[in-house]
Amino acid sequence: MTRTPIVAANWKMNLTLDESRRFINDLVPQLIRFDNVERVICPTFIALPFVADRLEDTPLKVGAQNVHWETSGAFTSQIAPPMLQGLAEYVIIGHSEVRQYLNETDEIINRKVKAALAHGLKPILAVGESDALNQAGSTHEFVSGQLRAALQGVSGEQMQQIVIAYEPIWAIGTGRNATGEFANEIVKNTVRGTITELYGETIAQTIRIQYGGSVKSSNMEEYMQYPDIDGALVGGASLKVDEFVRLVEITDQIKG
Ligand code: PGA
Repeated sequence: MTRTPIVAANWKMNLTLDESRRFINDLVPQLIRFDNVERVICPTFIALPFVADRLEDTPLKVGAQNVHWETSGAFTSQIAPPMLQGLAEYVIIGHSEVRQYLNETDEIINRKVKAALAHGLKPILAVGESDALNQAGSTHEFVSGQLRAALQGVSGEQMQQIVIAYEPIWAIGTGRNATGEFANEIVKNTVRGTITELYGETIAQTIRIQYGGSVKSSNMEEYMQYPDIDGALVGGASLKVDEFVRLVEITDQIKG
């Protein structure tokens, strides 16, 4: 089974509209040549229409950083799935920063996953354990539980629209990245293992699983050499054109 590798840029709460315009104009010409890698840019909501417009005639894809589960209504500050249609193909759901700072629960994440799928948006579902859970040796149990909760009521057919990002919280934005060996162990045995239990081997082999957490050009090779790690979800290093291009290039060289 060959899975198309996928590298996604999570800009988080960075870049004004003007900065986003300049950044994407610098980035696009350098990124269009790596056709064996799916490349996804996840800007802020403000920059989303511009970025979507700019990427329209390119092979690059757009992702949103979040979505609400209702289609419209009295939910001040929120963005509904139909509002993303035509702008974004992907949407990050369950990022640890949203779980942590905006109190997003497994139940909310499950609703968002189902709402996104119902509107033709592909979730990049993020899971990952805290430092304390990691130290306690509970990573497998915790991450597997997050997946089971997020995927409740998701059919096998729908599952094939989902990308999973394994992002240990202690590695996000800290510079303390997981070793390739550890990331592979969780991606392969815990994430793909849980999906195998839930959906069977055939579907599990089609699902793309990214690693995320302090990914940069100096450690990307270490992750990409593992066949079960299908790409990366990148924060900090996605805000530097050369770095992000290099990450895609490394992925293309190893997996393309
Ligand atoms: P980082 O963030 O690459 O800055 O660690 C990754 C993420 O949160 O998606």
